[in-house]
Amino acid sequence: MMRFSGKVALVTGAGSGIGRATVTRLKAEGGIVVATARNRPGEPLVEADATLDLDVTDEAGWSAAMREVDAAWGRLDVLVNNAGIRESGRCEETSLAQWRRLIDTNLTSVFLGCRAAIPLMRRGGGGAIVNVGSITGIRGTENMVAYSASKSGVTAMTASLALDHAVDRIRVNAIAPAAIRTRMVEGMLEEASDRDLATARLLSKHPIGRVGTPEEAAGVIAFLASEDAGFMTGLTIPIDGGRSIR
Ligand code: NAI
Repeated sequence: MMRFSGKVALVTGAGSGIGRATVTRLKAEGGIVVATARNRPGEPLVEADATLDLDVTDEAGWSAAMREVDAAWGRLDVLVNNAGIRESGRCEETSLAQWRRLIDTNLTSVFLGCRAAIPLMRRGGGGAIVNVGSITGIRGTENMVAYSASKSGVTAMTASLALDHAVDRIRVNAIAPAAIRTRMVEGMLEEASDRDLATARLLSKHPIGRVGTPEEAAGVIAFLASEDAGFMTGLTIPIDGGRSIR
């Protein structure tokens, strides 16, 4: 399948995990892919048509990124707002600084990205935005108050954006992964006092009996970004090994 031939896509947080797998998938399907990442030592950037240094919380950085895409290709067809961070904490243990960091990185970033990208997409006749939420943003999860709030905002904003921009032929959808085997889940297991117990608990939450792969998440992102999902907008699709039906 070459669903992205001649299309220009931008993926945030592309240095690792789901973002990296998404770049690989969109490239494999013929896309022109701009990978953005914060420059971090030890985090090699994926092969892409262009790599931009972008902190997704930086408003001016988003404007600069769009100017570069416009100058190079004059269009943007797909935006994948993937970058994010996970930090645990119950309400009383969550500092205001931590709350703001999670809301900024996981939610304000999506607002900034969409706001920067929509004019260029509209000018090109439309496009598709895929935001990366979380199953935690739909169901809530213990010990993750700020993270779940940030991701639930992504789901609500996705639906509102879809309503506002259907007229521009811009579809806006999100994915809501449960555990996907990336650095983020590794970090969560490392935090646990008993890693084996934490792993067993994690697996038992997923009826399919394993965690997902970044490639499986990237496959659903690519579907939502493609014309195969041409009649879908405003939705948040769980990728969760059955977790949400348990
Ligand atoms: P990851 O930690 O490998 O990837 C996150 C990426 O976001 C990293 O490359 C990181 O450098 C980047 N990032 C963080 N803050 C940034 C900033 N301010 N500016 C630019 N880049 C920034 O983890 P993963 O799993 O690939 O995460 C991708 C998305 O998937 C995140 O939004 C995460 O919340 C979401 N997610 C992941 C789940 C999982 O189980 N792995 C489950 C549910 C959602």
